[in-house]
Amino acid sequence: MATDVVPVRLGARSYEVRIGPGLIDRAGEELAPMLRRKRVAIVTEERVAARHLPRLSAALDRAGIAHAALSLPAGEGTKGWDGLRATTEFLLDEKVERRDLVIAFGGGVIGDLAGFASAILRRGVRFAQIPTTLLAQVDSSVGGKTGINTRHGKNLVGAFHQPSVVLADTSVLDTLPARDLLAGYGEVVKYGLLGDAAFFDWLEVNGPALAAGDAAARQYAVRRSVEMKAGIVERDETEEGERALLNLGHTFCHALEAATGYSDRLLHGEGVAIGCALAFELSSRLGLCSQETPSRVRAHLKEMGMKTDLADIPGTLPDAAALLRLMGQDKKVVDGKLRFILARGIGAAFVADDVPPATVEALLTDALGQR
Ligand code: GLY
Repeated sequence: MATDVVPVRLGARSYEVRIGPGLIDRAGEELAPMLRRKRVAIVTEERVAARHLPRLSAALDRAGIAHAALSLPAGEGTKGWDGLRATTEFLLDEKVERRDLVIAFGGGVIGDLAGFASAILRRGVRFAQIPTTLLAQVDSSVGGKTGINTRHGKNLVGAFHQPSVVLADTSVLDTLPARDLLAGYGEVVKYGLLGDAAFFDWLEVNGPALAAGDAAARQYAVRRSVEMKAGIVERDETEEGERALLNLGHTFCHALEAATGYSDRLLHGEGVAIGCALAFELSSRLGLCSQETPSRVRAHLKEMGMKTDLADIPGTLPDAAALLRLMGQDKKVVDGKLRFILARGIGAAFVADDVPPATVEALLTDALGQR
C-alpha cells in the first residue's frame, strides 16, 4: 500500500505526516535527507522498545545513521519531572545539538515528553514523531502540543513545538492490544463527530472491519483524522479558537480520568468516547440537536465494543456534584466558566462557554443513576 502524505502547513514550521505500513522499516531513508549529521537520539519506552526498537535500529543501521536510545518505563507516570530530567540529561549526554534530530518513538506519553524535552533543550532542537499507537497517530503526534504532568494536573507544563516530520507506520497497529486500539478509535470517532458527518457515516460502515484488522480501512481512518487535525492546526495553531473543537468530549473525559485516578480503569481514549456520548446528550438536552443524534453516537460506540456509558467504568465513581467540581479544575476553564464543545448535529461541533452547570449536573446524575 502506498504511503499517504498529509502536509501540515505552518510556514517555516511546516512538516509532513507520512502514513502507511512499513514506515519504521524505511525510517532511515525517510529521515536521512533531514539530517545534518548521520546520528539521532531515540526516546522510547520499554514495551515499544521490546516490540519495535530492533526494526527501527536496523532501518537506521541500513542508512548508516548512528543512534542511541533511552528506554523509559511505560505508562503515564513517566510523563513528569523525573522523566523530563532523565530525557534531557540523556540528550545532553548524547551531545544532541540544535540542528540534530530527536526521535520520539512511542505513544502519546513518549511523544509529549520527548517533544517537550526537545522544545526546551538548547532552547529548541528538532524532533521527529514515530507514533506507535492509534491515539498518537491520529492525535497527539500531530499539532505540536508537548508537555508533562505535575501534581496539579495533566499537561500543565508544556510548549507548542512542532515536529519536523511524523512517520505513522500503520502496521504497528497490528500488534497493539485490542483495548488500546479501541481507545485510539475514540479519537478517530471524535473527528467525524466534530466536523465530518460523511466520515462518521464511513466509520459506521467500516469501523468493525478496521477493528478486525483491515489495513486499508486503518490507513484511511488515520489519514482522514490527520487531514482534519492538520486543517484545524493550520488555522489555529495555538488554540485561540477553532482548535478547541479537538477537545470534544474532553471536559467530561478529564473529570472521569481524575475521578478514576488516571488508572487502568479508564484509558484516555475510552474517556473521550464516553465524553463524546455525554457531550451529544448534553447538546440534545439543550435543544441543539435531535434526541436521535446521541442515540446514534452511542449505538456506534456500542457496536464497536467500546466503553460508552458511565456504567462501563469499573468501580465506584463520585457523585455528580463532585464530577462537576473536577471539571472546574480542568484547564479548559476560561474566566471561571466551564467550556464545553457542543454540537448542532453529527459533524457540527462548536465551542460553548455558557452551559448552565445545573444542566450538566442533572445529566451526570441521570448518567450515574444508570450504573
Ligand atoms: N489533542 C488536542 C490538540 O492537539 O489540540
